[in-house]
Amino acid sequence: MHASRIRMASLHEKIISATQAALLIKDGMTLGMSGFGGAGDAKAVPLALIEQARSTPLKINLITGASLGGGLDGKMAEAGLVARRMPFQGDAILRKAINEGRVVFIDQHLSEVVEQMRDGSLPTPDIAIVEAVSITEQGHIVPTSSVGNSASLALAAKQVIVELNLASNPNFEGLHDIYLPEDRPHRGPIPIRQSNERIGSPAIEIDPSRIAGIVICNTPEAAVTMLPPDHDTQAIADHLVRFFEQEVELGRLPRNLAPLQVGVGSIANAVMSGLIHAPFNDLVQYSEVLQDSTFDLLDAGKLKFASGCSITLSGPCGERVFGNLEKYADRLVLRPQEVSNHPEVIRRLGLIAINTALEFDLYGNVNSTHVCGTQMMNGIGGSGDFARNARLSIFVTKSTAKDGNISRVVPMVSHVDHTEHDVDILVTEHGLADLRGLAPRERARVIIDHCVHPDYREALADYFSAACLLGGHTPHDLSQALSWHVRLNNTGSMQQPN
Ligand code: COA
Repeated sequence: MHASRIRMASLHEKIISATQAALLIKDGMTLGMSGFGGAGDAKAVPLALIEQARSTPLKINLITGASLGGGLDGKMAEAGLVARRMPFQGDAILRKAINEGRVVFIDQHLSEVVEQMRDGSLPTPDIAIVEAVSITEQGHIVPTSSVGNSASLALAAKQVIVELNLASNPNFEGLHDIYLPEDRPHRGPIPIRQSNERIGSPAIEIDPSRIAGIVICNTPEAAVTMLPPDHDTQAIADHLVRFFEQEVELGRLPRNLAPLQVGVGSIANAVMSGLIHAPFNDLVQYSEVLQDSTFDLLDAGKLKFASGCSITLSGPCGERVFGNLEKYADRLVLRPQEVSNHPEVIRRLGLIAINTALEFDLYGNVNSTHVCGTQMMNGIGGSGDFARNARLSIFVTKSTAKDGNISRVVPMVSHVDHTEHDVDILVTEHGLADLRGLAPRERARVIIDHCVHPDYREALADYFSAACLLGGHTPHDLSQALSWHVRLNNTGSMQQPN
């Protein structure tokens, strides 16, 4: 019946129900699950596990590629199923559980998870659950819309459950390039010299005897909500395009720029879409999550090739792309996140990394994760992997949030994810600050002049002047540095009362 999807005939006898698969998972186990940015996650077994947790004490430690889709992270948190979660999430219900201390969350650079597992400093999974589009003649697993950490989790786990999703387009086969770095200390270089190079195999090469069960499901990928570009994101994109044009004119960038990495979220997606009307052609992407904008640019003939570790699309874009994968087959590759986010490759290719900040400060430190220094939003994701190692590290953000009550440019960030040393360019709808080669006091002036919303510009300039009177290489008035956040907590706004 599933002969073309499970091509190793002897594996047919391993087909079990989701409920049977869930029964293999015991209280206290560490589970590895496929899934990255809401793409390619196991869909049936997690729901069966939630059901099981209603009648049996069941708490698991969950390691994935990144966030899960279809509200799965929230549903599992709601069921009290998850004790520890790593390395990234983006779900409102799980976020609440994390911030209330009910779920232990380890927020980690996405390139480092399996590296630490390999070194023995993280537990290896008892069971890995991996979504597949097919299983080859050799019993190897062909993933669906993400690779993420799936290959490493499947290889490290004691047993593997494969979720064969019949709703996934069989043409996913051939898009993946599974290569895992060798063990240290005798590891050779990762041989990627261009974004489109394939260096691995098209499937996860596990020993099929480790497959404990195959669960057949037929569940379409959940779509993500992607806000359309607006006036502010268009202004941010325009500032960036002008900046790139200048860099090309000055001979610092070639006419097709450099391989682009674009972070998650509506702002980064909208900014990338802004390149459609820019005078750059033959663009190349070497990124982590490929969002709608990647396919807009591919379809417009502006982007020549895209490398990522997952494809996360809105409903309409998903219909356009997932049904027509063959159209993109020679312009697309999906790699393990350890390779898509690897510092060695990022530095070698000379990436332009564009990520979104929750807030940044006078000197260029960036907070990507914590609202008011304490409340976890999503996690650092791959932003640190890219920002530290890119040729040009760019952070974009709107200058304010919550109807202007929050300035996203502040005297001192309330949490630091990317230090001033890792940030080259900051952009808001008001302008672009080029921080390269500038000392802290020089950076502050450029940021105040170009990035701050007019409602907060004078207050930030006043803070800086007062701090300068106190002296220092990086002047601060420590009694006032976080006063904007304190005011927000006390009054609901960073605005000073008249
Ligand atoms: N304080 C409080 N809330 C803030 C805020 C601030 N300084 N800045 C933004 N927010 C709120 C927004 O109001 C919005 O809330 P809403 O959903 O209730 O409207 C929410 O945070 C998201 O912000 P938004 O401006 O819509 O941007 P986004 O969807 O592009 O997300 C990040 C921004 C920073 C949360 C997101 O990019 C992220 O998680 N980054 C970290 C991981 C990462 O960069 N990965 C990239 C590697 S590929």
